[in-house]
Amino acid sequence: MVQFPEHFRWGVATAAYQIEGAANEDGRGESIWDRFSATPGKVQNNDTGLVACDHYHRYVEDVQLMRELGVKAYRFSIAWPRILPKGRGQVNSAGLDFYDRLVDALLESGIEPWVTLYHWDLPQILQDEVGGWGSRETAYAFATYADIVSRRLGDRVQNWITLNEPYVSSFMSYETGEMAPGLKDARLAWRTSHHFLLAHGLAVPLLRANGGSQTRVGITLSLTPVYAATTSAEDQLAAQLVDGRMNRWFLDPVFKGSYPSDLLALLGNMAPTIEVGDAEIIASPLDFLGVNNYFRAMVRQGPGGIPDDIKWVYPENADYTDMGWEIYPKGLYDLLVRLRLEYSIPRYFITENGAAFPDTISEDGHVHDPMRVNYLHDYLLQVHAAIVEGVPVDGYFVWSLMDNFEWAFGYSKRFGIVYIDYPTQQRIIKDSGYWYRETIAANGSNL
Ligand code: FCB
Repeated sequence: MVQFPEHFRWGVATAAYQIEGAANEDGRGESIWDRFSATPGKVQNNDTGLVACDHYHRYVEDVQLMRELGVKAYRFSIAWPRILPKGRGQVNSAGLDFYDRLVDALLESGIEPWVTLYHWDLPQILQDEVGGWGSRETAYAFATYADIVSRRLGDRVQNWITLNEPYVSSFMSYETGEMAPGLKDARLAWRTSHHFLLAHGLAVPLLRANGGSQTRVGITLSLTPVYAATTSAEDQLAAQLVDGRMNRWFLDPVFKGSYPSDLLALLGNMAPTIEVGDAEIIASPLDFLGVNNYFRAMVRQGPGGIPDDIKWVYPENADYTDMGWEIYPKGLYDLLVRLRLEYSIPRYFITENGAAFPDTISEDGHVHDPMRVNYLHDYLLQVHAAIVEGVPVDGYFVWSLMDNFEWAFGYSKRFGIVYIDYPTQQRIIKDSGYWYRETIAANGSNL
């Protein structure tokens, strides 16, 4: 029988820019996502987060929804430009007040708040004035912001996540340009990755200092199990390098105290400047690792040869979500078991996992999403298998509570277990939401 730990955190996750809306209200400053989405052609359908799910005004209803689902924990992010409209300096107390009210509403409903401090919405002014994450100054500004937020919420929030997916917010934002601020400069991207990790490390002791003895601090990484398409030495090396860039480049400095040497050697003068003391700051001990996983990578050497030409392989007989992401639940198991073997990490939480499918409201008024139910079911079984194997996974957060602004894809991708009818802002619990409620109630024993 499937048995999850007694205090397993059954959660749901969101992020500020993807759901809040109210972009110009109560003193909020501009973020890089406001600027990026207002630039024609950057986001599908030129969608923006101006209104999104209007959560800023509907948070009471949304907390009530979570209560109805029986959710135990809610991972949300704080919009830095609501707290510090200019990135630094003057604090906007109305911004802090909003999160204060949200935290209280959650606690009153018996839902544990899990706060992510950076889920990609950098104050635009920091991009303009110092070059955003290309500058060390942004790392120090982040630490100050983390200090301000945790001074206000640290008496009630026990679970802190510094950054969400620095891999994505460095490489997809500064190298491929798919994400805000949309720059295309590989060397700069490597530099930003270091500044992200520095920001993380600087914030950790502040978050601890501003909280009680129950405070837990972690980081959320997007982790992708990587497989070689064949057993050839070239394909194996391709897999090693992709794993290096997507996974070890972030895991190693945080949990082992140094960047992976194979990657550093390969990077040569593309490598970021690492100042004396940075490594120790970045390796500040953590209470947990947040794992975001959606897909695996299968790779091979391309005709141009490694390391420059590495191709992804998409197995033909596999199922894919609306994002084109391969559904491969076993990958999450492989990943977790591997982490346990190679790192000493005290606890794990799956801080994001979920799937987009083209949901519609049926004539019966319900949203039937059997594919999502299957997806969640199969991934949760693999999480369970990893727990049985001895990996201390203490919680799982579905991405996402509700359909929302899916970055460069705008509102075209639906990840929610709650459907959003954008024109009316009506919330409709999908079949997967009801299924998740049963699963939570049964503590997973129904899987
Ligand atoms: C992750 C992001 C999250 C969401 C999911 C689908 O990379 O952290 O905000 O967009 O992908």
